[in-house]
Amino acid sequence: MSENFDVVFKSGTIVSHAGEALADIGVSNGQIRAIGTIDASRAGKTVDVRGLHVLPGVIDTQVHFREPGMEHKEDLETGSRAAVLGGVTAVFEMPNTSPPTTTPEALAAKVAAGTNRMHCDFAFFVGATRENAAELCHLERLPGAAGVKIFAGSSTGDLLVEDDETLTQVFSTLRRRCSIHSELESRLRERLDLRRVGDPTSHYEWRDVTAALKSTERLLRLARATGARIHILHVSTGEEMELLSHNKDVATVEVTPQHLTFAAPEDYERLGTKVQQNPPIRDRAHQALLWWGLEQGVVDILGSDHAPHTLEEKSATYPATPSGMPGVQTLVPVMLDHVNKGRLSLARFVDLTSAAAQRLFGTICKGRIAVGYDADFTVVDLKAERVIEDDWVGSKTGWTPFAGRKVQGWPIGTVIRGHLAMWEGDLGEAQGQPVRFGEGFPGGLPG
Ligand code: DOR
Repeated sequence: MSENFDVVFKSGTIVSHAGEALADIGVSNGQIRAIGTIDASRAGKTVDVRGLHVLPGVIDTQVHFREPGMEHKEDLETGSRAAVLGGVTAVFEMPNTSPPTTTPEALAAKVAAGTNRMHCDFAFFVGATRENAAELCHLERLPGAAGVKIFAGSSTGDLLVEDDETLTQVFSTLRRRCSIHSELESRLRERLDLRRVGDPTSHYEWRDVTAALKSTERLLRLARATGARIHILHVSTGEEMELLSHNKDVATVEVTPQHLTFAAPEDYERLGTKVQQNPPIRDRAHQALLWWGLEQGVVDILGSDHAPHTLEEKSATYPATPSGMPGVQTLVPVMLDHVNKGRLSLARFVDLTSAAAQRLFGTICKGRIAVGYDADFTVVDLKAERVIEDDWVGSKTGWTPFAGRKVQGWPIGTVIRGHLAMWEGDLGEAQGQPVRFGEGFPGGLPG
């Protein structure tokens, strides 16, 4: 074939399902059209990626971008700016906004607000409530929907489904995989008094291992009883990881870079409420078992749980402080540093951040480097050593818990459907579009 291309990414180390190889990638109309050796004369434009690794675009399947309702913390533009600065090509955003994403109108409003305003591609989770439970099988398949999210334990916002009856109803209705924040609300309520004023280390004593484990046990039981497929977000305990290793037929598993990197009590002592999040950062013994789950294949996917709060909000006195930390921009460099330190292979990182999103959520034409797929690439310099600093942060919050951390491995470019959304720290035009899903679009795929 001797077709010409809009753009050719020249001489990169392409990391794909086929392994690693030095090659060029030809792109036309936002799609990958050829992988191999491509004559430069066939390119409208050439991007030299010599010495760099071209990874399938990193998809972050858990972010909170706060629009509508809490735009003083973040909005769809600033959250997605942080994403592309960090090498992330698509995000799935959570429903705990104000109003929450629990109706077709709220979902459509987010899709409209994100289109050509967000810097990366996007999808939105629909929040389950007692009121919308019967409609979820329709809501989960609307354009721009990543699926349904349940808060089985409460966190930021007021989305919560805690009774067996509603959970059973939701699980029986859904056709897609259901993503869940798994902490047992009744136990969290019973133990509120364990929080010590001014002492964020009491956060993980309050929201303890039993609260997470009992919740995940219950969700597995209900999923089995109803035939649902569930996705346990941000697993934080060794006990759950062990349990989930016996339930791979029902449940998929997410871990976050922060649970793999920070530990109690030392990082609470160093960073205070900045590392307060739900479920909490726990001790090294739990962290070791999260890494065990990652090494053994129990973990399916990495998500950042980017949950921005302002420094002012974080500087109140615990427990008046909100839970969550920014993370969409630091996912790639923090995890590439773990790759360089030998904690996981580059191939495993790629699987966890691209192919996994396609496997779990059914993305169309995203999740691998292949002819016919969207030209979404995370271009990285595996040798670059940088220090993560607050002044690099694109999020409205302007801070990161990883500030001061020296890492090896850095995102150089974020390519989305062939256009440079970010190159060496400079942003391109915002051209965000909704991600498409095989299980979406009732009535068939649009033209
Ligand atoms: O710590 C958290 N913060 N965990 C969540 O699940 C929600 C998030 C937020 O939205 O702030």
